[in-house]
Amino acid sequence: MSAYDNIAWYYKRFSNVFFSKKLILRFLKNTFLEFGISKRARILDIGCGTGSILSSLAQIGFKKLYGIDISKQMIKFAYITNSSFNVRLYNKNFLDFAARNKFDVVLSTMDVLNHVDKKGLLKYFENVRRVLKSNGLFIFDINLKEYLKNLGERKKVIKRVDETLFTWKFKAMRKKISINFSIADAKATVHDKIIEYIYSEREIEKLLRKSKFVIVKRIYDYNSPSKTCFCTKVCYVCKKI
Ligand SMILES: C[S@@+](CC[C@H](N)C(=O)[O-])C[C@H]1O[C@@H](n2cnc3c(N)ncnc32)[C@H](O)[C@@H]1O
Repeated sequence: MSAYDNIAWYYKRFSNVFFSKKLILRFLKNTFLEFGISKRARILDIGCGTGSILSSLAQIGFKKLYGIDISKQMIKFAYITNSSFNVRLYNKNFLDFAARNKFDVVLSTMDVLNHVDKKGLLKYFENVRRVLKSNGLFIFDINLKEYLKNLGERKKVIKRVDETLFTWKFKAMRKKISINFSIADAKATVHDKIIEYIYSEREIEKLLRKSKFVIVKRIYDYNSPSKTCFCTKVCYVCKKI
């Protein structure tokens, strides 16, 4: 059992309400154009969750798509989302993933890297490097330190979407935040506990340099080149040299 198993069905149904997938997709399309990524590129989505980014890429004509996720339930929904596309999916921890054929692009979007602890993060970057072709692109986002610290201070957030009530309870520690998540509707209440590790941009960039990536683009919340106090995420486009 891993985090996200309990809430996979709700994630599939509601993630669009909380995350702007349209913004991510627009950013990816522009970045692919800018760096000459063709529709025949081999693309791996790490922490693909319920597979919505993969299905959107398939719909606009990308042909060689692969996804990996540690959660059995999330990947089960990724199969359903992508049932009419030729997308290859793996239920695995990326840290244990090896690829015979290398990829042109590796993606990891929507907080995936916040679930990896510091020791794991360097291994993660090194493994991305291992599975990427030379000059391949690594595109990922990570929740900002300031944003997570702020959430920790709020302690509890409640949101209602139609008849479904979402409650997040936060407990902040120095380098991580634990999130007790519950979702209640007329049929059931489900709970999950998620840990997000807190990284400064400096720490991330140091680890990227250590694993020999060059940062070619940095953007906030998928639409702003500069950081404001309202930003939640930083997104990096890196190149394997
Ligand atoms: C917030 S979800 C994001 C899902 C998806 N990228 C999206 O955009 O909707 C984070 C996902 O990362 C997966 N994950 C976390 N650590 C992982 C790892 N080491 N290997 C593979 N998947 C992982 C979780 O199971 C979860 O499905």
